[in-house]
Amino acid sequence: LPSILRADVRGKRVLVRADLNVPVENGRVTDTTRIDRFAAGMRPLLARGARLVILTHFGRPKRSEMNPAYSVDKLRPALSRALGVDVRFSDVCADNSAVILSNALRDGEALLCENLRYNEGETDNDPAFAAELAKLGDIYVNDAFSCAHRAHASTDALARLLPAYAGPLLIEEIDALSAALEAPQKPAVAIVGGAKVSSKIAVLKNLVRKLDHVIIGGGMANTFLFASGAAMGRSLHEADQVETVREIEALARVHGCCLHLPRDVVVAREFKAHAAHEVVPADACPQDAMILDAGPEAEAKFAAVLEGCRTILWNGPLGAFEMQPFDAATVTLAQKAAALTRAGRAVSVAGGGDTVAALNAAGVAQDFTYVSTAGGAFLEWLEGRELPGIAALHAAECAA
Ligand code: 3PG
Repeated sequence: LPSILRADVRGKRVLVRADLNVPVENGRVTDTTRIDRFAAGMRPLLARGARLVILTHFGRPKRSEMNPAYSVDKLRPALSRALGVDVRFSDVCADNSAVILSNALRDGEALLCENLRYNEGETDNDPAFAAELAKLGDIYVNDAFSCAHRAHASTDALARLLPAYAGPLLIEEIDALSAALEAPQKPAVAIVGGAKVSSKIAVLKNLVRKLDHVIIGGGMANTFLFASGAAMGRSLHEADQVETVREIEALARVHGCCLHLPRDVVVAREFKAHAAHEVVPADACPQDAMILDAGPEAEAKFAAVLEGCRTILWNGPLGAFEMQPFDAATVTLAQKAAALTRAGRAVSVAGGGDTVAALNAAGVAQDFTYVSTAGGAFLEWLEGRELPGIAALHAAECAA
């Protein structure tokens, strides 16, 4: 992909699609990771005289309702701090007044435009709305890998209207994820957790084709255990996914991928932190109990699998990680993956909202080789799907 870092940006209005969709509580940003990682890539452009016009969505406001709760103005202090310039604000993103503000920028200055999703044309991928956006810049940059799974006006139609480039964070994400999935150092393992098999069928099918091992945890493991005839008690599982499980198991056999399930599990009678719990064999959950984590034998087995691998891909927690002590398997495995990475023995790549929260809670996110800023886009990438935002950049490159 053509990198904006190689383009001449001095004096140009660089219209950049960012993903500043960050967690906010009581009007304040509670996690600036996406802002900071975006800003780190943009500072060199500002230093080279770019005039940044920043587009982002924030949340999912109802169509054609400009609910002020979704205004991106509240992101400005954190964005200004991270970019090292006083970011200006346009309370619209497609209008003459926004164009006037973009034309008033001087070299090294930045303008943030109001939430793209206040306009129906954004999610509709409306070419007329994209044409309005195009008036705000001389060149277009997509730096929002985490929105690349959306074919929206700012990620798709707009890329065809201006000279189009990939931003530094988008390139960094693609390089890291490709290294882990398309050309991994072998043996390679994926840890896939989370609640439902049904939400990750395509992910599992793609991973068993490409990797040597897949460790399955969380509620998804319960569905695999159920399919093999295990007693589930009150455990979360999807009884209608037995056929899917069989398909995934068959595919894994064909491709020589080892699927790993817990042999023992931690069960409790209440779904709450510090509930009384016990360890039982994975096929024997008592009738009145539910599985909330993988057991110690499973932890040791999973850790041994990681030990033998050179690439570790992670999506989804292994248990009810938000409640102690049911975070134990997730924390132990996260620490193991981090230690192997620190020792230079493995490349580790993680993504997905819950996964990153779990790695942060385990205090090891910074030790991973790469932690993606993407949630949905990371999953679609793991499915092996073409992401519309990336496809649009490729198409623009071919047309140029
Ligand atoms: C995300 O938070 O994963 C991205 O910002 C995409 O948001 P969306 O799922 O509302 O499109």
